[in-house]
Amino acid sequence: MLIEKRLFGTCRQGAVDMYTLTVDSGMSVSIITLGGALVKLLAPNREGKLADVIFGYDDLSSYLGGDGYHGALIGRVGNRICKGKYTLDGVDYQLYINNGQNSLHGGKVGFSHKIWDAEASVVEDGCVLDLTYVSPDGEENYPGTLTVNVRYKLSQDNALSIEYRATTDKKTIVNMTNHVYFNLGGFASGKVFDHLLWMDCESFIPTDENLIPTGEIRDVKGTPFDFNKEKTIGCDFDLSYEPMAIAGGYDHCMNFRAVDDVWAAPRIKARDPKTNREMVVYTDAPCVQFYSANFMKNPNYPFKGGYPQTTQNGFCLETQKMPDSINHENFTDITLDVGEVYETKTVYKFIVD
Ligand code: GAL
Repeated sequence: MLIEKRLFGTCRQGAVDMYTLTVDSGMSVSIITLGGALVKLLAPNREGKLADVIFGYDDLSSYLGGDGYHGALIGRVGNRICKGKYTLDGVDYQLYINNGQNSLHGGKVGFSHKIWDAEASVVEDGCVLDLTYVSPDGEENYPGTLTVNVRYKLSQDNALSIEYRATTDKKTIVNMTNHVYFNLGGFASGKVFDHLLWMDCESFIPTDENLIPTGEIRDVKGTPFDFNKEKTIGCDFDLSYEPMAIAGGYDHCMNFRAVDDVWAAPRIKARDPKTNREMVVYTDAPCVQFYSANFMKNPNYPFKGGYPQTTQNGFCLETQKMPDSINHENFTDITLDVGEVYETKTVYKFIVD
């Protein structure tokens, strides 16, 4: 097991380091301290053959200017808040509008664009990178000083886990995630329509034309969102189905079925039949934003090695609570009070025979 650290670049906020954690199978992950972004994930297929399965950029300026939130930690609140407005304990808050008429992924400068403090260590069964960011009271118009710790761990069993923890000194709202885009054939291998996907999800959340939840929680049965039987991402990619027509593909919150023990079995399985690479996802989050990279088309920000952006060349599984929860009484509770601890964990594990 090995940990390497190098300077990735320097910007107005300061120096940005890149840490690469490697385990004995050769699997490795590279993470930069800007946004805690995953830049590279060399992951094995079932025979142990490694490929870089995530999208990212070669240079810091693309991470600062580029869109897509590639591999980054998202906060305080992931996804869209309708018109950037919410009310907490009778106080109205207005967030920065950065996506149509809405506030997306934490506002003007969310956690994805902050430099995090980092500390790496080798532990018994893997390598760990501990990231810390203290978000000041009122930052981006969220109340309370929020102290956030994220622990990335790459373990000897080829699993990358992300553990989030946060506490506040005033009641606030929190709904964090990571925004990594996968292509299990390797990021430069084209559309993901042939990937097989199984998700233990019983319902999804349709949106209006501004991609804001309508409030409805719809059963997946009989819709393209039913992944309860493994199927390819492409087979029901049906842009005549209204929710998908609005979003240009899959870009919806999927709600996991309630189970007694969330760690007993994966909640999601994804596999690329061409390369025989399989990833399973364990999480204690109640939902996952399944996004088929419908906006991945900005010609100004090519990926690593100059690989162009192309829609549906990747997919995201952003484990989190429901989007715009604070504006829907029937949605998940994303408030965090003084004395409470926000804790959630997601594991992306690669299967080797
Ligand atoms: C996703 C969101 C998409 C898009 C993307 C960033 O989380 O669901 O609609 O905004 O982030 O490009």
